[in-house]
Amino acid sequence: MSAKPICAHDYEKHAKEVLQRSVYDYYRSGAEDQQTLADNEAAFRRLRLYPRMLRDVSVIDLSTSVLGQRISMPICAGATAMQCMAHVEGETATVRACRSVGTGMMLSSWATSSIEEVAEAAPDGLRWMQLYIYKDREVTRSLVRRAEAAGYKGIFLTVDTPYLGRRLDDVRNKFQLPPHLRMKNFQTSDLAFSSKKGYGENSGLAVYVAQAIDPSIKWDDIEWLKGVTSLPIVAKGILRADDAREAVKHGIDGILVSNHGARQLDGVPATIDVLSEVVEAVEGKVEVFLDGGVRKGTDVLKALALGAKAVFIGRPIIWGLAYQGEEGVKEVLQMLREEFKLAMALAGEMFSSFLSQILCGICEGCHSVKEIDKTLVRRDPFTISRI
Ligand code: FNR
Ligand code: LAC
Repeated sequence: MSAKPICAHDYEKHAKEVLQRSVYDYYRSGAEDQQTLADNEAAFRRLRLYPRMLRDVSVIDLSTSVLGQRISMPICAGATAMQCMAHVEGETATVRACRSVGTGMMLSSWATSSIEEVAEAAPDGLRWMQLYIYKDREVTRSLVRRAEAAGYKGIFLTVDTPYLGRRLDDVRNKFQLPPHLRMKNFQTSDLAFSSKKGYGENSGLAVYVAQAIDPSIKWDDIEWLKGVTSLPIVAKGILRADDAREAVKHGIDGILVSNHGARQLDGVPATIDVLSEVVEAVEGKVEVFLDGGVRKGTDVLKALALGAKAVFIGRPIIWGLAYQGEEGVKEVLQMLREEFKLAMALAGEMFSSFLSQILCGICEGCHSVKEIDKTLVRRDPFTISRI
């Protein structure tokens, strides 16, 4: 590709050209018919923005916080597994890029760089650990303890993956890691998803999950996790109000409204369509985040207007990595920041003034000054009338 990429989809087009086919397929895929995959992006398009004019948008502050940690913008890197397939520096490039733009990175349990390597790559960078609960609780405990020791600031517990969703391309490709890579957080070839181990005719990753991950976890296991760590815990993968209330009841510190990038249960709603329901259910008791289909600044604006504290980006980070490693991820994050800033200005939103920041510092737990006006977003009236 000759022209410089200027939007998230351009970066994806480039990645499709340069990545090995089975690798691109793994990153891109959604589950089964990929109905939800399409809807994650389409649902943003169904929402209309109702901007306000003449509101002095000459100074816009995009900074906010996640679980008490300051970030330069409400756009963070979500956990995507096995990033060294996209670029030789993988997760260490991503964390450096996030640090340089002042935002946070969620590291996958299934990273191809270890918890400690990623910490060393950006010691002062904001990092969170995504967690899968293994059948072997000692393995799980050790991941959490290592993350805590290495200065990660929170645990994002993925709750939507008792088994892996069925991604047809991965089944066809019998997807597994290339021989030179492994899941770096684990020592044994069984746990490290090494290609030395055979995975038969299926998606290798689906077989791995069925063998290693505990499908019997339930809400009560949150107590166990809370006993292992003092870090804040966010439930990643909530799509309903009752589950959100259950999470709060069990002492969860945050909720990430997510359908795993449409890779688990096909047919679930787009995340932006259930965000308001979850936000209402938690009644401001915990922070609510969103991921899934966020590709543009206006998507970020819509998610924040509907109550998300911040959004996480999955695939576009991978496409940035495939483009130019650390520099590519940085470009993608900066591009989204500029798009979001422009969207804020054109919508007449200031996000937070200097004064409100000071007030917010005094009044702990006050979220209102950071809220974007809810009336900014309405469902497209034409789409509704067609349904
Ligand atoms: C993911 N996701 C994911 N989630 C998780 O909890 N642990 C993981 O290891 C991974 N790995 C992973 C790999 C790839 C290639 C993708 C695309 C996704 C889900 C991820 O955290 C996030 O929920 C979605 O990627 C968000 O959707 P978008 O931004 O990709 O549309
Ligand atoms: C995926 C796993 C790694 O979505 O969560 O591929």
